[in-house]
Parts: sequence; structure tokens; C-alpha cells
Amino acid sequence: MSFYRDFNDKTAIAAWNAAPRKPFETIEVKRLSPTVGAEISGVDLSGEISEPQFEEIRRALDENLAVIFRDQNLDRAAHKRLAKKFGGALHRHELAASRGFDAAPDAEVLAWRTGPESRFTAGDGWHADVSCDAEPIFVSLLHVTRTPPTGGDTAFANAYLAYDSLSEPFKAFLEGLTAIHDGAEGWSAGYGAKPADGKSYPISEHPVVITHPRTGRKLLYVNPSFTTKILQLTKTESDAVLGLLFRHIESQIAFQTRIRWTPNALLIWDNWATQHHAVWDYYPEARWGERVSVVIPGQKPSR
Ligand code: SIN
Repeated sequence: MSFYRDFNDKTAIAAWNAAPRKPFETIEVKRLSPTVGAEISGVDLSGEISEPQFEEIRRALDENLAVIFRDQNLDRAAHKRLAKKFGGALHRHELAASRGFDAAPDAEVLAWRTGPESRFTAGDGWHADVSCDAEPIFVSLLHVTRTPPTGGDTAFANAYLAYDSLSEPFKAFLEGLTAIHDGAEGWSAGYGAKPADGKSYPISEHPVVITHPRTGRKLLYVNPSFTTKILQLTKTESDAVLGLLFRHIESQIAFQTRIRWTPNALLIWDNWATQHHAVWDYYPEARWGERVSVVIPGQKPSR
């Protein structure tokens, strides 16, 4: 039966919320919306955290996809120590020393200071971090040390719900498709960055629908910053289908939340199960951030 207005998003959200959630014992978790985002308190991330506490943080991330901790005075060593607890290796970003980013001598930290001189800021468009890599970032940890008087939120969208809310025939159509994710699309077109002489930015092919390796759930894995073409379709068809899917992610406010920053908050997100958009609505005020990200060697997005 079809209705004038779709109801798939409502049933998808209801199913998402029907999943059992056990209470937490070592942390407090306050959900920020019915679909994505939570605030965690009762933990100081600058020191060693116990295994039971880390396991609960991991579970809170699986359930909420983006979790923010307030008032965390982390130096880079503590930031990286926490990131390493998620397993795998720390990501070395192609742009870590590019124009407009802090020329931090540390390739494992993507640092930026957006201010009155800036002509772009990191992540000002819907994306999943570095989906152009063959083994894209799995978890990102962003520490924001300076915030504007108002604004500078990061918006998150739940990519499981983006998939779940599609109709069954459309899900079946997407099932066998793969798409190109191109670093030049995000970084040259977006930031005016150029790869080092003789080098080019990563380009990878990933399925349009992937299965999350931790939860076993399917999610939509295309984003407007990096995804350029669905390989099995003509260009006209690909542009139309990608346009539809990008609009679906961008316009479904019910699958989104806006994370409000306070100085020294640390935000951790599941970079496969979400897309995010750093809202640059505070120009010419300043906002400073440092991101450390985790890749799991050998773990590629797959059906
Ligand atoms: C990013 O990592 O994409 C930037 C997010 C932000 O600055 O809020």
C-alpha cells in the first residue's frame, strides 16, 4: 500500500528505538535525540580508563553513533592513547600539513584553526571522513579547544536509518551497486588542496550499501563530499540516484542531531554508521579542533 506521505522513516525510527538497551553502570549516558547522538558524563578521559568503563563507552558509541564528553583536558598523548583503545592504527591524513590546516609536525593529528583568515573549514559539507581510502577511518575523535560565542555545531546523520527507511524495491536495486569515492572531489574541489608532486589523492570503490562489521546492520555508504559515480549505471542515471541518496541523507532531519560544542569537549563518532557536517555559521569568529582517527588494517567496507 502506498500513501501520499511516506511512513518508512517513522517505522524505521520505531524499530531503531525498539532495540533493547541495557543500562550503564560505570558512565552516565544521556541521549540527544531519538536517532543519533549522546552525551556521556562521569569519566575523565585524560587518564587511564578501566576496561569495564571503556567497554561501556564502546557500547554507547555502537548504540548512539556519536558521543560527546564535556570538559576534557586532553593533550595529544592522551588523545592518541584514547584513540588506540579502539584498536587498529592511527590514521595519517593526507592533508595534515596542507595549507589551511595547522602544519602540525604530527601526521597522526589533523589540526585546524578556523578564523577570520580562513576560506574553508574542515568538514563543511555532509561526509564520512576519508571515505576515499580503501580502508576508511572507522572511528574519529575530535577535541575542540576553542569555540565561537555561538554556532559551530557538528550535525550528524544516522546512516543505518538512511538505509532502513528506503522502500524494499529501492533497497533491492542498490544491493549490487558499487561507487567511486574520490579524495580530489573532497579536497581539491572543497579546499583547493593539491596533492604533493607526482602523487594523487586516494580513489576507492565501495559498495553503496555496506554491512557494519560490529553490529551486522546494513547502512547507506555514499556521501556528497567524496562519492562521484555509481559504476554500474550511466552517468545520467548515477547522477540522479546519487542526488536522490544525498538529498535523503541531508534532508531527513529526523535522522539527524546537532552536537553543540563547549570548549574542551571531545566527540567520538562511528565514521561508517554516520555522516557529519561541520556547520560554519560563525565566520569571522574562531573555532579550533584536533582530530585523531582510527583505521582497522584489512577492514574494507563490504556487503
Ligand atoms: C570533521 O572532522 O569533519 C570536522 C568536524 C568538525 O569540525 O566539527
